[in-house]
Amino acid sequence: MDKIEIFNSLIAQIKEIVKGQNDSKGKLLKICELLKNKVPYYNWVGFYIADNEKKELTLGPYVGEPTEHTKIPFGRGICGQAAERRETFVVQDVSKETNYLSCSMNVKSEIVVPVFKEGIVVAEIDIDSHQISPFTNEDKEFLEQVAEIIKNLF
Ligand code: SME
Repeated sequence: MDKIEIFNSLIAQIKEIVKGQNDSKGKLLKICELLKNKVPYYNWVGFYIADNEKKELTLGPYVGEPTEHTKIPFGRGICGQAAERRETFVVQDVSKETNYLSCSMNVKSEIVVPVFKEGIVVAEIDIDSHQISPFTNEDKEFLEQVAEIIKNLF
């Protein structure tokens, strides 16, 4: 299967998870597990929930190494910058990004995709990879589609 076929199959599976019986947290965790298990270079997959009054992100369901960054102010790190800019932020080599919050020495790159609800950033999908430059426009388009499918879980 090429990347597009994997992503198309994942979209169908994510739609099924969203329709399922679990509560929202359970569904989000299943989606994290699915993405991490099916895409070899997705090594940490999680959600941050946005509080637009406090301008702060709080760690939600995730799979991968535990992180100390459970609260992130808007503007800080890759996650906080994506929340402030209100757009997908791809960093292909985290060693070159100065405004970066490190979770693990193994992480080489990161993509953060905002989840919008009525134009407001309600959450983010955050993915870390152990490879340099693994993310293409296909990943960005795929994850933006995922964000649209799951927005009502927030
Ligand atoms: N690296 C992120 C912090 C979150 S961890 O990747 C889980 C950042 O710079 O915002």
